[in-house]
Amino acid sequence: MDRLNAPARLMIVSDLDHTMVDHHDPENMSLLRFNALWEARYRHDSLLVFSTGRSPTLYKQLRKEKPMLTPDITIMSVGTEITYGTSMVPDDGWVEVLNHKWDRNIVTEEASKFSELILQSETEQRPHKVSFYVDKDKAQNVRKALSEIFAKHGLDVKIIYSGGMDLDILPQGAGKGQALAYLHKKFKAEGKLPTNTLVCGDSGNDAELFSIPDVHGVMVSNAQEELLQWHAENAKGNPKIIHATERCAAGIIQAIGHFNLGPNTSPRDITNFSDSELENVSASSEIVKFFLFYERWRRAEVENCEIYLASVKADCDASGILVHPSGAELPLCGAITGMRNYYGDKQGQQFRVWVDRVLSTQTGLDTWLVKFNKWELSGKIDLLVDEPLELDLLRRVANTSKLLLCFILTRSISNGQSLFQLNYLSIPAGDEQQGCVITCIINMKKDGVSGATYMHVHETWLEGSGTKDQSTWLF
Ligand code: GLC
Ligand code: MG
Repeated sequence: MDRLNAPARLMIVSDLDHTMVDHHDPENMSLLRFNALWEARYRHDSLLVFSTGRSPTLYKQLRKEKPMLTPDITIMSVGTEITYGTSMVPDDGWVEVLNHKWDRNIVTEEASKFSELILQSETEQRPHKVSFYVDKDKAQNVRKALSEIFAKHGLDVKIIYSGGMDLDILPQGAGKGQALAYLHKKFKAEGKLPTNTLVCGDSGNDAELFSIPDVHGVMVSNAQEELLQWHAENAKGNPKIIHATERCAAGIIQAIGHFNLGPNTSPRDITNFSDSELENVSASSEIVKFFLFYERWRRAEVENCEIYLASVKADCDASGILVHPSGAELPLCGAITGMRNYYGDKQGQQFRVWVDRVLSTQTGLDTWLVKFNKWELSGKIDLLVDEPLELDLLRRVANTSKLLLCFILTRSISNGQSLFQLNYLSIPAGDEQQGCVITCIINMKKDGVSGATYMHVHETWLEGSGTKDQSTWLF
């Protein structure tokens, strides 16, 4: 990771499903709170690492569905694939390590003899990961039997049970914990071992993360039984691990505070921005604040609108220019005044705005060049049902509410009736995320009270966003 030339102040290594991402929260509130905190206070000198069981295919799908940040490092397929940066450059050195005492053909062949194991989808079968579904009550025995068979073949494999249904078979040297240990070793060799590492998880495949030396750890409040049990048996007295009282990303924010790892007030939790103006102003936090104001404006959640609008206008240089992503150029002050026509135009909708990869470079005594991605999300509602549903109920739900059924993960028989465990239901609403890359020049006042002056703002559409509705894109 060359972005930082000193050790990261904080490295967060977080699982995604049910840890960073709360599938029970259609508003994505805790994720958005975390995003704002990270971009305002941590992005510039810290590292964000996502460590997920998902393959690259399902990881990319999740990024399209949820308002997620771009991590510095992505660890996928239960610690068997490590990639760097936005272009996700793979770590070939890691792949070498995993080939040790691993033979994928033998693993698939032997596992296929177990009728209790149901093969997961093709996308989730990876070079160093073979994955199945298995019932909770059968998992333990199957695991034991498989281990013995693989040992006889001279293989050294690891079998992990997660979420009360997923069984992954990996090389012994793989897994989320080993991948983190590998990264730590790499950073250490470069003299850049992060000052603090916080690992975050909710299920079985996250357990290893908590046994890496010197890390702080948070099991989110909604952690699975298998992780809590692992903790009770292996790490009970460790003061560096907490079981948060908050769910998912809110639990991560809670842990940052608990372990004193840095600021833990999300800009989203500040309702009156003028109250916070005395604390450390930076170009990044100004950007986060501005777009929060913009979101609230369009949701009709700003009190004293006129006063606020005037103060935002006062923060714009009189000769400042906004280059709209359509290519149109307009005076910055005029663009702010134009917001008046859009107060509350997104009221009652699922309208959210977030910024990603906010990075600034000082170009003059008090001038900063800030570059970031800005995203708008509207319309989409995701609903997750975790409880097993009867097939009949399932049909009724799907018929009455135009829901698109995405996955049915497990099926079992009880009293002669089929029980399906339904995991994802989503209402398809077309492409809801629209984003652009913004470059702006900001003047930061030295007194730390008066905040920023926007000199120039230049926007360009991101990833096909330009083909969507351009008329209501104000900034
Ligand atoms: C993710 C993966 C799946 C894996 C599970 C547990 O859901 O898609 O293949 O079994 O994580 O690690
Ligand atoms: Mg998880």
